[in-house]
Amino acid sequence: MQTVICPGSFDPVTRGHIDIIKRASNTFERVIVAVFVNKAKVPCFTIEERIHFLKKALAGMENVEIVACEGLLADYARERNAIAVVKGLRAMSDFEYEFQMALTNKMLNPDLETLFISSSTENMYVSSSMVKSVASFGGNIRDFVPECIHDEIRDRLCGGGKNHES
Ligand code: PNS
Repeated sequence: MQTVICPGSFDPVTRGHIDIIKRASNTFERVIVAVFVNKAKVPCFTIEERIHFLKKALAGMENVEIVACEGLLADYARERNAIAVVKGLRAMSDFEYEFQMALTNKMLNPDLETLFISSSTENMYVSSSMVKSVASFGGNIRDFVPECIHDEIRDRLCGGGKNHES
């Protein structure tokens, strides 16, 4: 079975992430969505919350598995016999960071490929940081996160849902 991994912090998951995961699941037999503890970032949501949002947003997708991960992606990929890491690329600004990770993973696990799927135009500028920033000022994040988890994310980021646009 051709297994690929979509790794990330997903803090929180956005419409852009969901688009990439869905397109990966249409292309490969099995997709593992790996929610990593990224030591370089202080997360806003706990691992459990991030997984809860992903499970809701990806409900019904039979070939998608969601897991919490610690340690090296290259090692986890080997453990799960994954053939590739699949990531979304929005703009050139993503490229340097993603290229560095792809080369590092290749060095750590030479059998592992990194494949990039280009972002859909409507999600070109969507990021988890932007969602958190807009929501923290009470702005409308409806277009940026999946509808089924919008209220939960908004309420959590806006402190009870007050002072926001719906
Ligand atoms: O959504 P993010 O924060 O850009 O995802 C980054 C992530 C989690 C994919 C990256 O930090 C990662 O692969 N972490 C696991 C640790 C690891 O393997 N580090 C070496 C390669 S950079």
